[in-house]
Amino acid sequence: MAIIAPSLLAANFLRLQDECTMLNESEADWFHLDVMDGRFVPNISFGLPVIEQIRTATRKTCDVHLMILEPGNYAEAFKKAGADILTVHYEACTHLHRNVQQIKALGMQAGVAINPHTPVDLLEDILPDIDLVCIMSVNPGFGGQQFITHTYNRVRALRNMIDGQQATVKIEIDGGVTLDNAKALIQAGADVLVAGNTVFKSPDPKATIAALKKA
Ligand code: DX5
Ligand code: ZN
Repeated sequence: MAIIAPSLLAANFLRLQDECTMLNESEADWFHLDVMDGRFVPNISFGLPVIEQIRTATRKTCDVHLMILEPGNYAEAFKKAGADILTVHYEACTHLHRNVQQIKALGMQAGVAINPHTPVDLLEDILPDIDLVCIMSVNPGFGGQQFITHTYNRVRALRNMIDGQQATVKIEIDGGVTLDNAKALIQAGADVLVAGNTVFKSPDPKATIAALKKA
């Protein structure tokens, strides 16, 4: 069964507490929290104070996806804000191994996200050191975009690489996940499905989460 990680980027920020309560009562496993700096990606979302407050509203795993340059400058602050998993972008890290070591030393799980154009092969030598790979199935920066279908090949290739190394890295899919593609993604080898609009813009978010869980 896949881990379901609703992305609060699509939540109603005027009713954030209700949205957190809904997720707490649902079958959602993780809270996916998207941080954007307007530099690595052409959009700005929310940051530390918001995550700090969300932390007080849930016991579920806080999966923080940093779409920011120089993430090493902020890793400690995100730990203090309550992140359980901290994911940085391959494309934003000149010294990725150092960033990963720092995240682990702070006591968080470490994730690496890759943009749609970044070959999965480039992760071969970092897999033993990380807990999660986030395959972007849209270009990062915005919710509600269309799923890039080439993602399936990327998931299969990464699954083979992880299994070949007998590594325990989870594969997370982020962007354009729907009830229509969830099953195929899991069959291709995905462990975690992030879903923003599919969950929060649906008439019954809890039922949608349950349906994703059953995919
Ligand atoms: C995009 C973010 C995603 C986004 C997904 O840059 O990383 O997590 O919220 O939104 P949907 O599921 O609506 O494509
Ligand atoms: Zn994300």
